[in-house]
Amino acid sequence: MPKTQARTCLAVILAAGEGTRMKSALPKVLHQVANRSMLAQVLASVQAAGADRIAVVVGPGREDVAAEALRVEPACEIFVQSERLGTAHAVLAARKALEAGCDDLVIAFADTPLVQPETFAALRAPLADGASVAALGFEARDPTGYGRLLQQDGALVAIREHKDASEAERAVTLCNAGLIGLDGARALEILTAIGNANAQKEFYLTDAVEVSRKLGGRAVCVVAPETEVMGVNDRVQLAAAEAVLQKRLREAAMRAGATLIAPDTVFLSHDTQLGCDVVVEPNVVFGPAVRVGEGAVIHAFSHLAEASVAAGASIGPFARLRPGARIGEKAKVGNFVEIKAADIGAGAAVSHLTYIGDATVGAHANIGAGTITCNYDGFDKARTIIGEGAFIGSNSALVAPVQVGDGAYVGSGSVITKDVAPDALAVARGRQIEKAGWAGAFRKAHEGKPKKRPG
Ligand code: UD1
Ligand code: MG
Repeated sequence: MPKTQARTCLAVILAAGEGTRMKSALPKVLHQVANRSMLAQVLASVQAAGADRIAVVVGPGREDVAAEALRVEPACEIFVQSERLGTAHAVLAARKALEAGCDDLVIAFADTPLVQPETFAALRAPLADGASVAALGFEARDPTGYGRLLQQDGALVAIREHKDASEAERAVTLCNAGLIGLDGARALEILTAIGNANAQKEFYLTDAVEVSRKLGGRAVCVVAPETEVMGVNDRVQLAAAEAVLQKRLREAAMRAGATLIAPDTVFLSHDTQLGCDVVVEPNVVFGPAVRVGEGAVIHAFSHLAEASVAAGASIGPFARLRPGARIGEKAKVGNFVEIKAADIGAGAAVSHLTYIGDATVGAHANIGAGTITCNYDGFDKARTIIGEGAFIGSNSALVAPVQVGDGAYVGSGSVITKDVAPDALAVARGRQIEKAGWAGAFRKAHEGKPKKRPG
């Protein structure tokens, strides 16, 4: 068993950022990547890295950020940093959590959403080997603005903020990602010894390196790819982070056995589940909580959210599955079809131009083109139940609540307001009448009159 698994871990997530460059009414860390907040993304990542306890540090009055943290992880502890006096000061806002003790303390930033669980775990490993501080570094293409990791003889001796760095130090390209691991037994001693004698008069977490060395400890750095430690400060960076995450999700889906014909055009959520041999055609969007079973095909330009598709089903092109759509095995949902809160039975076909909402469609039923379930009367929603093997003729309106029995037929163009018995035929439209020669007589009556243009 790796040493880290036996050790207790407290993760402190700093989420007290101002985020003014987002130009948004929403706090920065609640902006989403792959359909969950950056905060939720980081919470999931530290949890997967084995954090037993999580403390989230929020800004004053940020109940919305606290609520999101508790929604994702009800057991996390919330602390408020009342004044923004620096990253070390922010960690000390969670002092109570630190005082409860831990073997490893991992500090994460909620606006740095791409860090993988393995990377957080890699920060813990040197702590298990006796290091006091493990800082996460990356080779920056453009190091301007970042803290520099200063090494001597293989040891990390200091992290120098850009504003405080000399010319020689600024030439260093190994930069500080910000995330840091601290030996839990010494964390409080190190953090409280950090001062604010620097260009920004802030209590820098990065000073943990020099402080711990003065206290006789050892500091090391762990290197991650630059794309993983990218911070988000504005919407351009948010889109860049989204792109990195989408690439990861697409590659994971393909490695797990799904075919994405044009992966760059498919948008996935953090929790999209695609079974083996699923084929996703170009330009498909997966909102949150979508599960697609083995061998199903999602044709081009479809949009799915909070929906499930069973094995062998076929969706789209141009289909929309809204929350609560559950499509059965080998069922077909065709073009310009919208399904909401409805079960479509195995082998059923809803092939064209249809809205099925708040409904149950039995196995092997056939829903003709243009069928609408009228589920809403302006106040309440009501259900439509269509039996197994039923056949709904094209352009029918089913006014809910209503039930069509197993094997029943509904004639095309019907407006069904009453239940239809199993195996019956219901026709609810005007009867066709025919007036022989009527058209000729009509034209004759208009002969010689000026014609208006059509349209
Ligand atoms: C920090 C690092 C820098 C690193 C860079 C990487 C420090 C001192 N510097 O700088 O070495 O290269 O990240 O992006 O750590 N925060 C609080 N309360 C505060 C101050 C900050 O919660 O009082 C939070 C911020 O919301 C943010 C994180 O801590 O999530 C980092 O703070 P930020 O001001 O962005 O630090 P940088 O100057 O980017
Ligand atoms: Mg920053």
